[in-house]
Amino acid sequence: MVKPARVPRSEHACAKCGYRTARWLGRCPECGAWASIVEEVRGSAGGADAVAIDRVPLECGARLRTGIGELDRALGGGFVRGAAVLLAGDPGIGKSTLLLSALDRVARSAPPRPVLYVSGEESLAQIRMRGERLGALAPGLLLRADTSVADALEAADRIRPQVLAVDSVQTLKAPQLEGVPGSVSQVREVAARLVEWGKRTGTPALLVGHVTKEGGIAGPRLLEHLVDTVLYFEGDRSHAYRVLRAHKNRFGSTNEIGVFEMKGNGLEEVRNPSALFLAERPRGASGSAVAAAMTGTRPLLVEVQALVSKSAYGGSARRTAIGADASRVALLTAVLEKKQGLALCDHDIYVNVAGGASLDEPGGDLAIATAILSSFRDTPVDPSTLVVGEIGLSGEVRAVAQIEQRLAEAAQLGFEKCVLPEGNARRVKAAPLDLRPVGTVTAAMEALML
Ligand code: TYD
Ligand code: MG
Repeated sequence: MVKPARVPRSEHACAKCGYRTARWLGRCPECGAWASIVEEVRGSAGGADAVAIDRVPLECGARLRTGIGELDRALGGGFVRGAAVLLAGDPGIGKSTLLLSALDRVARSAPPRPVLYVSGEESLAQIRMRGERLGALAPGLLLRADTSVADALEAADRIRPQVLAVDSVQTLKAPQLEGVPGSVSQVREVAARLVEWGKRTGTPALLVGHVTKEGGIAGPRLLEHLVDTVLYFEGDRSHAYRVLRAHKNRFGSTNEIGVFEMKGNGLEEVRNPSALFLAERPRGASGSAVAAAMTGTRPLLVEVQALVSKSAYGGSARRTAIGADASRVALLTAVLEKKQGLALCDHDIYVNVAGGASLDEPGGDLAIATAILSSFRDTPVDPSTLVVGEIGLSGEVRAVAQIEQRLAEAAQLGFEKCVLPEGNARRVKAAPLDLRPVGTVTAAMEALML
């Protein structure tokens, strides 16, 4: 049998945005960063005999649940054996807090095998103090303060933990390599060794990665292709709640989110995020509409706000969208102009999805259009009405997926009516809300009395 030769492959990648290129470049064509392209040499995967697809042993699908529902949800149901998870986020957002709580739960739920938490950032005493605050003091939760990935893995080989967590990849060093911890080559090597160890031993490896100020150098973007799952922990530090978002997941949906609230004694799961996102909704104010978006398997109600006001300077109206896609907002504005006969070209339009939530599916179109028109007319929308539907370029309102789940979520939160696509209304059997089916934007705006 002829085996392909193992030729080490040389590739280059941008440390800032992850852009890949066969040859070295002085400037990244993707993000424009200078001197950010670094070389990586990888062995080719060729050489092994090929296996018929039906002969590949099925991996046992059992997942290791952390018991923190919102985290398990973002992971797609818990940790997968041997899978590497990157937990990324701004410094101070709560990554270490989440990690410690999760490890404590795992240590409690499945004795006698311990879990191992390696910190390159904090002393054991500091971690213990955090543990006291969180009530995370399980005897099976073992700590190490390491600065060398080799030492950490040697210990892990002896301990054989159920989960290995490293906080953070930027603070550990691979001793055989030049460079300070946190540099591109170090971060890549440290992560690669941890990932390899996890795969070899069938242990989930959890890597914490800080998002650096510039959003890149030696940060999580560099590691995304190395790991199986990337979770971003996001949130405004001035707000108490945090969203854990799956950015990449080889073992689950990437739309899935977990929501937490930062309290004095750690992170509390938010079981009903819709209620949280709608909590401060103004009643009877114009420019506000509620949409139901699907995030992974869960419907999420969010408030879309719009402010439409006459531009101060003629000719250059502003269009700003936060939490919604700007080009989508532009498209909806154009449809409103054409179909509703609005003159919006000399109006500034600001669209915001309240509470830092985001609405990135077309099912939110009708709510965005409604908020814009409501602000333009200065007429409030009935606060007990949910607005769902995708808008096409001819002003038609198109059906969305999983309408039943969206309606059920709204009913649970006390909504009474729903303006929705005719295509959906026809198929809903026992509707928990009063349905107002519409086929066009014009019909929708009539139903909403705008
Ligand atoms: P931390 O987990 O250290 O963040 P990261 O590891 O992402 O850098 O948490 C940082 C913040 O969380 C810190 O400012 C204090 C706050 N915090 C609480 O409000 N309550 C708590 O119980 C804990 C442990 C932290
Ligand atoms: Mg930390």
